[in-house]
Amino acid sequence: MTATDTATLDITDPAFKADPFPRYARMRATAPVVRVTAGRRQGAAWLVPRYADVQELLRDDRFAKKPANAMTREQLRRAPTLPGGPFRPLQEGLLNVDPPQHTRLRALVHKAFTPRMVERMRADVEVLTEELLDAALHKGDVDLITDLANPLPLTVVGRILGVPGEDQVRFQRGWQVLSSAADGRPGGALRAVPAVLGMMRLLRGLVRARASAPRDDLISALVAAREGDDALTEDEILAMIVILLSAGHETTVNLIASGTLALLQHPDQLARLRDDPGLGRTATEELLRFVAPAETATERYPREDLVIGGVRIPRGELVLAGIASANRDEAVFADPDRLDLGRDPNPHLAFGKGIHYCVGAPLARMEGEIAIAALLRRAPHLRLAIPAANLRWRSTSIIRGLTSLPLTLR
Ligand code: HEM
Repeated sequence: MTATDTATLDITDPAFKADPFPRYARMRATAPVVRVTAGRRQGAAWLVPRYADVQELLRDDRFAKKPANAMTREQLRRAPTLPGGPFRPLQEGLLNVDPPQHTRLRALVHKAFTPRMVERMRADVEVLTEELLDAALHKGDVDLITDLANPLPLTVVGRILGVPGEDQVRFQRGWQVLSSAADGRPGGALRAVPAVLGMMRLLRGLVRARASAPRDDLISALVAAREGDDALTEDEILAMIVILLSAGHETTVNLIASGTLALLQHPDQLARLRDDPGLGRTATEELLRFVAPAETATERYPREDLVIGGVRIPRGELVLAGIASANRDEAVFADPDRLDLGRDPNPHLAFGKGIHYCVGAPLARMEGEIAIAALLRRAPHLRLAIPAANLRWRSTSIIRGLTSLPLTLR
């Protein structure tokens, strides 16, 4: 296999998603960068599969996140873009900008989205998890995604932001439509337009309401965040809300769902965690390593032609850091395909590295640990309701997640 033998491999193909790890192992053994296809939306891409290279790529300022900072005029013309206007906040989030714009936005979000704010949510996350499990246990047969993994992080982030109860349903509906559009189905993005506009209107209204009457919530904290004389504009606050929602939702859903599946497929580890709930911290880290909800990092583009491991990568072309592959790199992790809930140290890259390191990591860890522990405690006979071979994986880039996870709880 050479660096380009994989060019026809579509890494968003559900058949690849079902078990990408043997393929990743071959890529790591072959070359520091391989050519792949990243679905219809992203097209051809360069994938970096080894741990050391992924870590370096994520810290390398020769790569830009904002296409305009790397692409030629011709490349920009061909790049898929959304119109400006009300959609601008979708394109100016933390993951789409570079320093100094990124440095400034990141400093301001840290003033508002603090570890204290996250820790204050712990009791809420616990109560909400129990409520969702009450309803799920009542049914007996559930789809873990619909009944727990999806509503938990969405409701939690809604409460952190301060979306009032009456707007939560509209907010959740808007978000669902937008997420399914992200699956890249033809026309999906177009169909999502009314829902996105509705959600942006709702959020803009909330930002204005909190500016005139602040409350104890994240939107008010973002409005109030100051760094010297600097503060966020209304559009920047909207962009921040959208990125907190988008980066934080599907990833957490898949930590809970794919993490539960990994436990069901490793009954010895499931039993170990049941017998020793004190293992929660290392277990969560190991599930993050093993399932890697963000299979790759988000887009990066070289600002100039580069040579990586003897392969020339032209300026402006899409480069993806292979997080799921790096997390199974035998050069860093002993017996990397073994799920070992006591693994420590565990320097996985599930939350990225460098200046774009996940802002929500403490919240994600807390939600994942609470949800999985409560599920195991409340459902001692937990099992898959269909054969594992019948599970389907979504055709998404960046995220790796199941379409549903049918379970029998009683
Ligand atoms: C298991 C759950 C999660 C995983 C696996 C995850 C993973 C990641 C990764 C890999 C990155 C870096 C992407 C890159 O460099 O291209 C990232 C960034 C980010 N994440 Fe998370 N994330 C999770 C949950 C959350 C939550 C709950 C939130 C907030 C509510 C959040 C907010 C963000 C934000 C805002 C960024 C962008 C940071 C920046 O560009 O400076 N994430 N996340």
